[in-house]
Amino acid sequence: MFDIDNIRAEFPILSRTVYGRPLVYLDSGATAQKPRRVIDCIDRLHRDQNANIHRGVHLLSEEMTERYEEARALVADFVGASAPEEIVFTAGATAALNTVAYAWGDRFVSAGDNIVVSEMEHHSNLVPWQMLCERRGAELRMLPFDDEGALRLDLLPGLIDSRTRAVAVTQASNTLGTRPDLRPVVETAHAAGAIVVVDGCQGVVHGGADVQRLGCDFYAFSGHKLYGPTGIGVLWGRRELLEAMPPFLGGGDMVERVSFGRTTYAPVPLKFEAGTANFVGAVGLAEAVRFLRGLDAAEVEAHERALLLRATERLRAIDGVRIYGTTADKCAIVSFNVEGVHPYDLGMVLDKLGIAVRTGQHCAEPVMAHYGVAGMCRASFALYNTPAEADALADGVARAVRMFR
Ligand code: ALA
Repeated sequence: MFDIDNIRAEFPILSRTVYGRPLVYLDSGATAQKPRRVIDCIDRLHRDQNANIHRGVHLLSEEMTERYEEARALVADFVGASAPEEIVFTAGATAALNTVAYAWGDRFVSAGDNIVVSEMEHHSNLVPWQMLCERRGAELRMLPFDDEGALRLDLLPGLIDSRTRAVAVTQASNTLGTRPDLRPVVETAHAAGAIVVVDGCQGVVHGGADVQRLGCDFYAFSGHKLYGPTGIGVLWGRRELLEAMPPFLGGGDMVERVSFGRTTYAPVPLKFEAGTANFVGAVGLAEAVRFLRGLDAAEVEAHERALLLRATERLRAIDGVRIYGTTADKCAIVSFNVEGVHPYDLGMVLDKLGIAVRTGQHCAEPVMAHYGVAGMCRASFALYNTPAEADALADGVARAVRMFR
C-alpha cells in the first residue's frame, strides 16, 4: 500500500524547515528531491569504489565499469529499449536533445526540409531545432495548442509533409501538465517518413516511459527530475538511427582507433559518450529507478492525481486565479496567475510561508506568449507531497491575494 509517511521518511530534505516553517516543496518539476538510498549510493560510490570506467584493468575500475553498464541495462529495461546499447548516458535531457539535433540533424536535414515542434515545448526541445534549421536552411514549423493546453492534433496533416524530417514533442508539458496523445503524432510523422523526438523529462516522472508503446524514435530525460542525481541524463534512440548518426562530441572513450591520419569510432552507445562519463550519476540514477520500481506505479499516479485535483479545486475557489492547462489527463503540474498580482511577488510570499514554487517563464516562453503573460507561478507535485501541502499552497495564495489587494 502507498504509505505517504513512509515515503516521506525516505527523503531527508523534507524534514527541514524554511524560515522556521516546515518545507512545502512544490518545485519538483524543476528538480525532484532525492531518497536516502540514492544519496547513500552516491556517498558509497565515492567512499569505496571511485575509479574511472572503461579505462583500467585494476579492480576498482572494473567494478565501477560493471556498475555503470548494469545501470545502462536497468535504464534500458525501465524505458522498454530493445537493448542496453540503445541507451546513451548524457549530461541531461538538454544534452540528449542537442545530440540528436546536431548529430542526426546535420546528417539528415537539408535546405528546404522542415522540422515540426510543438508550441508547448520546453526551450530544450525547441532551441536546438531552431539552431539546426538555421545551420541547414530548413524551416521550423509550430504545432500549436489550444487555450485548454491541448495540442492541435487536427492540424498535423497540414503541417507534416514529405519534407518533414522530424517532429519534436513533449510527453508531458512542464508548464501546462498536458500529456498529449502521441499516437497520431507518431502515425502522421512516420507516414511522411519523419522521425519523432520526445522530451520525456516530466512524462517519465508522471506515468513512466515505454518507448515501444510511444512508438517514437528518440526519447530524452534527465536524472534529477526522476529522484536521481543532477548532471546525468538519458538519450534513448533506435539502434539503426544511432548507428547512422556521426558522433557529436569527440574525445576519449568514443573512439576505436586514433591516429593523426584517421580516427575510427567506438560502436554505439560509446560513440556518443566522449570523455569521462558521469558514472556516479548513472549508477545513482539506476538507484532512483530501483526506488521507483519498489512502488506501485498505479498508486503513485492515483496519489499525484488526488493532489492535482485538490490543489486545482482549492486554487480555483480563490477570486482572480487563472489556471493554465486544463486538459483532463494532465499530470500533477499546476501553473497559475492571480489577477493583479505579479507571479514573482506571489512566489516570494509563498516562499516566506515555506512553500517553494517556480515563478517566471518556466523555460517555455512561447507558452507565455500564447497566453499573453510575462510569467506564471507553477506548483509541481511529486510522489512525496501530501494533501495538506496542496491546502497550504491554496491557503498561501489566498493570503497573498489579501495582502496585495
Ligand atoms: N525544466 C525545469 C522546469 O521545468 C527546470 O522547471
